[in-house]
Amino acid sequence: MTEIKQILFDEETIAAKVEDLAKRISADYAGKDLVLICILKAAVMFTTDLMRSITVPAVVEFIQAASYGKSTTSSRNVVIVQDLKEDIANRHILLLDTIIDTGETLHTLLKLLSERKPASLDVAVLLDKKCRRIVEVPVAYKGFDIPDDFVVGYGMDCGEQFRNLPYIAALETR
Ligand code: IMP
Ligand code: MG
Repeated sequence: MTEIKQILFDEETIAAKVEDLAKRISADYAGKDLVLICILKAAVMFTTDLMRSITVPAVVEFIQAASYGKSTTSSRNVVIVQDLKEDIANRHILLLDTIIDTGETLHTLLKLLSERKPASLDVAVLLDKKCRRIVEVPVAYKGFDIPDDFVVGYGMDCGEQFRNLPYIAALETR
């Protein structure tokens, strides 16, 4: 049975960090046509909290990726399973994920989206599991660095469970 081992970030800690990221983003994107892209499903809570605190006009779009193959090597194949509904050419794109791990997902999405000629393309993540990185990804906005723990909650799952937890916790597994 998979169980919560330890709460790593409680609701208040997450909210303060998200507010901080939103302030930086609001300052950097003032006067720009900002498109937030939420990477389904893990980034849902991060996206809705962040966009509530962003004070410049912003629209939100959704994309979903899936990956096949081993997660411990660079042989993973990441594909888009639900694409954006809007054209992003000449717009300022901020890709949102709750966690970056090997970097494969964001690396692939950055490559695919850059072909659509956005005005700018950057990444914001709440958590960075840097020690697991396989491909380098430029991360413009980052909340916390975390060690190699499998985490759940705040949108993140283990077998689709735990996404609804309002805090971020490490699991007993691994
Ligand atoms: P990457 O492609 O290896 O960087 O992984 C990115 C995706 O894997 C994230 O969007 C999450 O959905 C998932 N992921 C990575 N690490 C964790 C974790 O510790 N808990 C839950 N999901 C994770
Ligand atoms: Mg998952």
